[in-house]
Amino acid sequence: MTGSGSLGVFPHTRMRRNRRMDWSRRLVAENRLSVDDLIWPLFVVEGTAVCEPVATMPGVNRLSIDLVVDAVGEAEDLGIPAIAPFPYTNDGLKTTDAAEAYNPDSLICRAVAEIKRAHPDMGVICDVALDPYNSDGHDGLVRGDYVVNDETVEILCRQALVQAAAGCDMVAPSDMMDGRIGAIRKALDQGGFEQVGIMAYAAKYASAFYGPFRDAVGSGSALKGDKKTYQMDSANSDEALREVALDLAEGADMVMVKPGLPYLDVIYRVKTAFGVPTFAYNVSGEYAMLKMAGAQGCIDYEKAMMESLLAFKRAGANGILTYAAVEAAKLLKNS
Ligand code: PBG
Repeated sequence: MTGSGSLGVFPHTRMRRNRRMDWSRRLVAENRLSVDDLIWPLFVVEGTAVCEPVATMPGVNRLSIDLVVDAVGEAEDLGIPAIAPFPYTNDGLKTTDAAEAYNPDSLICRAVAEIKRAHPDMGVICDVALDPYNSDGHDGLVRGDYVVNDETVEILCRQALVQAAAGCDMVAPSDMMDGRIGAIRKALDQGGFEQVGIMAYAAKYASAFYGPFRDAVGSGSALKGDKKTYQMDSANSDEALREVALDLAEGADMVMVKPGLPYLDVIYRVKTAFGVPTFAYNVSGEYAMLKMAGAQGCIDYEKAMMESLLAFKRAGANGILTYAAVEAAKLLKNS
């Protein structure tokens, strides 16, 4: 059936033997995706019983707090360990000083409190950055035409404190200001939140793959210019290691590389160099590409999505933030 030894000098080396049967493929699999690897980002909007589709992210909706609480319950039942809620902020609340970022009664703070009340065991990870609240659409305060660092860090600390007070388990600074991890760690500790962790968006690139997210949170139309003076240049990966080293030294509990699929080499280098909990953000543009290609009949969406998530594991990621978390969890459950 498999032919005789006409292959030359290595007749015993048949790589395909292990691949021939399902049982042996399963035995030799080097990496595995589990529901424990998934973090689900979701979008929160004001109102009651509101479910607004995000046009650029098929299958993703902005949900009012009541529906978010239900959705989180579904995720918890599937075994998803953590969620990352992001607020859609109405234009009226966006100002040049981004003051809504540290309003203890903001949409995100109310959402976190309700989620934790209903689902205390679900991990809740809150984004720290000013873009939802800034009329410039930037992650930091703009003075002249520059996004200023140290003044922004002060606001980020206040933002982290209101999120911690609302009950989040971790804060995830995504702003890429220098020194913010150390400053936030200190602010949390002084505020009595030494148990609140930090997942640092340590190596975050200035990327075109965030477009759909900016639609989802309503920051895209506000954004003036680009984020290249603070987010990383796609050309670099040595620099990613310096970013990660600094964030760890400043007190990060977990680090993240973002975007995901085009940066698997960075994930691999970070994991290899530091051996710390390393997460990948499979961002909105990556999600949209697969969804749209699937809808057009170009690829099998579910297979391509599961293959992508496994690729993150192979690269060394401990886990993945992905809009496909619930879909993936369901597929894992039924497999
Ligand atoms: C904001 C933030 C962004 C994302 C997460 N937090 C966008 C940006 O930096 O412009 C992107 C997530 C995604 O594209 O899925 N600080």
